[in-house]
Amino acid sequence: MKTGFVGVGSMGGLLVRALMRSGALDPKDVWVANRSPQRLEVLTAEFPGIRLTTNRELAGHCDLIFLCVKGSDVPTVLAQMDSELYPGQLLVTTASVIQLRALEDRVPCRIAKLIPSVTQEVGAGIALLMYGSRVTKDDRKFLEDLLGRISRPVVITESQARPAISLASGAPAFIAYLLQSMAEEAVRSNPELSSEMALGMVQETATATLRLMDKTKMTPQDVVSRVAVPGGMTALSIEILSRSVPQAWQAIFRETAEREKKDRERLTL
Ligand SMILES: NC(=O)c1ccc[n+]([C@@H]2O[C@H](COP(=O)([O-])OP(=O)(O)OC[C@H]3O[C@@H](n4cnc5c(N)ncnc54)[C@H](OP(=O)(O)O)[C@@H]3O)[C@@H](O)[C@H]2O)c1
Repeated sequence: MKTGFVGVGSMGGLLVRALMRSGALDPKDVWVANRSPQRLEVLTAEFPGIRLTTNRELAGHCDLIFLCVKGSDVPTVLAQMDSELYPGQLLVTTASVIQLRALEDRVPCRIAKLIPSVTQEVGAGIALLMYGSRVTKDDRKFLEDLLGRISRPVVITESQARPAISLASGAPAFIAYLLQSMAEEAVRSNPELSSEMALGMVQETATATLRLMDKTKMTPQDVVSRVAVPGGMTALSIEILSRSVPQAWQAIFRETAEREKKDRERLTL
């Protein structure tokens, strides 16, 4: 099956590389297009068999197309492709802001939405999938098998998407930020600890904690209860965290939902 990628930036580049490295896609069946040529040159140097092309040519030849451009660039890209798109194609957008229904109204293809995660670079983590109304049972199986080579695909509805995207795709950044800020504040509280030491400790502890939970089936609450003994320093620390952390998450889920709603209202395909 000829598979095209329009946009090979952070997500498109990650997907095309991970799928070829895993053996799920054969470079000779892969077509790629990108606004600037530099990213394409890097990709062909890595995978000499792939075909560099234009958005329009890709649209006329690929059975499966991953549209990996920012939501605000989707109207321009569709205008370049739409004369060539046809009903037999499966078009998968990675832009969360694009609504399946609006895309179905705009192009004749079968439509799906994929929200990858940076963790797919190591063949792990969740890839969220949402399906439009024209997608067939075979399309679903095909996409889930394909993405299963580099992730654990989880099918959701579009109405579940906003918080799910934060949990599956935003979370690597949230987790990394929390680790870094914990290490930075530890060093600020006592400069005798070096930054490298602090970050190394917190990173290794995070990995070990997840392994502990995985192996022993402890829940997060179990871990907290086990470590934060009443009257101890960890219990005091958790009490301090509980004063502001839930409020921060509430603001994140509320404000990202509001922002996405506004972005959608501004976008016309
Ligand atoms: N980053 C994430 O973790 C993540 C996770 C899930 C979903 N997403 C979604 O995935 C989409 C892409 O995000 P990204 O982070 O990969 O963005 P990105 O790194 O900016 O990549 C976008 C790519 O699209 C290319 N492009 C723009 N206009 C084009 C056009 N007219 N024709 C062909 N190519 C064009 C850009 O080319 P240039 O080389 O010229 O810039 C760039 O390579 C967004 O909608 C984002 O919300 C991102």
